[in-house]
Amino acid sequence: MTTRLTTRTVDATPAAIGEAADILRAGRLVAFPTETVYGLGADARNPDAVARIFAAKGRPSINPLITHVADIPHAQKLGRFCTYAEELAAAFWPGPMTLVLHRQDDAELADAVTAGLPTVAIRIPAHPVAQALLTASGLAIAAPSANPSGRLSPTAPGHVAQELDGKVELVLAAGRADAGLESTVIDLTGPAPRLLRPGTISAEEVEAVLEGPVERISTSDAKLAEAPPSPGLLLRHYAPRLPLRLNARSVEPGEALLAFGPNPFIAKGAAEVANLSPKGDLAEAASNLFAMLHHLDRPQDFTAIAVAPIPDHGIGLALNDRLQRAAQSS
Ligand code: TXA
Ligand code: MG
Repeated sequence: MTTRLTTRTVDATPAAIGEAADILRAGRLVAFPTETVYGLGADARNPDAVARIFAAKGRPSINPLITHVADIPHAQKLGRFCTYAEELAAAFWPGPMTLVLHRQDDAELADAVTAGLPTVAIRIPAHPVAQALLTASGLAIAAPSANPSGRLSPTAPGHVAQELDGKVELVLAAGRADAGLESTVIDLTGPAPRLLRPGTISAEEVEAVLEGPVERISTSDAKLAEAPPSPGLLLRHYAPRLPLRLNARSVEPGEALLAFGPNPFIAKGAAEVANLSPKGDLAEAASNLFAMLHHLDRPQDFTAIAVAPIPDHGIGLALNDRLQRAAQSS
């Protein structure tokens, strides 16, 4: 399991997708694009294959994985759909939304996928390559983001090849992941719907479909430490190597600036500037976030990354969630 592999990055042609499906069916790993970020996939039924994901990422075994399926009938074999789940699935699937449901007793899933929990996280991705891989393999594919545990999520095939070199056999390349942030995770297993991870589908959009409130949880909530609703929530996440300084209104000497919006004077003195969205568009900023953090994360060139303030509404909530996690030191 610790053997070093030769990692090949190939364009996601139909032939390459067919080969990737064969690799998955043989119990080995493939990285593939989704509309959110690149995923590191394995056959969700096969315990050895799933163990390879945890080993490749260095992921703690208490942190469960998302299972990706091609369609709702397959999802229903894995999780028990309540009315809320049916409504959200109809509104947002295929798409960047993950539902946490009670696991079906006879769900064909390796226990490690759900970290032994009685619940399961399911998503139907919209990306055509992800869809084609699910269809060609006929599998439920367990896939976390294709990065070493605790590091930035990959939004381009080059990030995967760089960070998981020797640990994944094949990277299916299809350019940049559009949304750029991981899926919105909604937990439907408790007394009320709950947002476990903000994403590009906003809490407000989910509430509009459910015609009722969705509980938000904050990563700084002290109660979480006792009973985390999502095991991944408390782990250090999305960490660049350089320190991040959030809500920066000016730049210190030696710092790079991650800017947002048309605000040129804050950039004064920055060693380098990347602007998430010069026109101040939050969806564009989300799509650029991880790629720009990857680009600026150069300890040999800068002392820190100063990050301009980002509005805290809609997708901005998800952006600020990722930035706050990235800014937490280990
Ligand atoms: O956009 C995405 O969701 C990407 C692409 C590849 O689909 N995947 C992704 O997976 O971000 P990952 O493993 O990096 O994040 C999964 C999150 C973790 O925070 C995990 O704790 C949570 O989902 N999760 C998984 N199963 C859960 C469960 N049964 N109950 C609560 N949270 C769960
Ligand atoms: Mg991840």
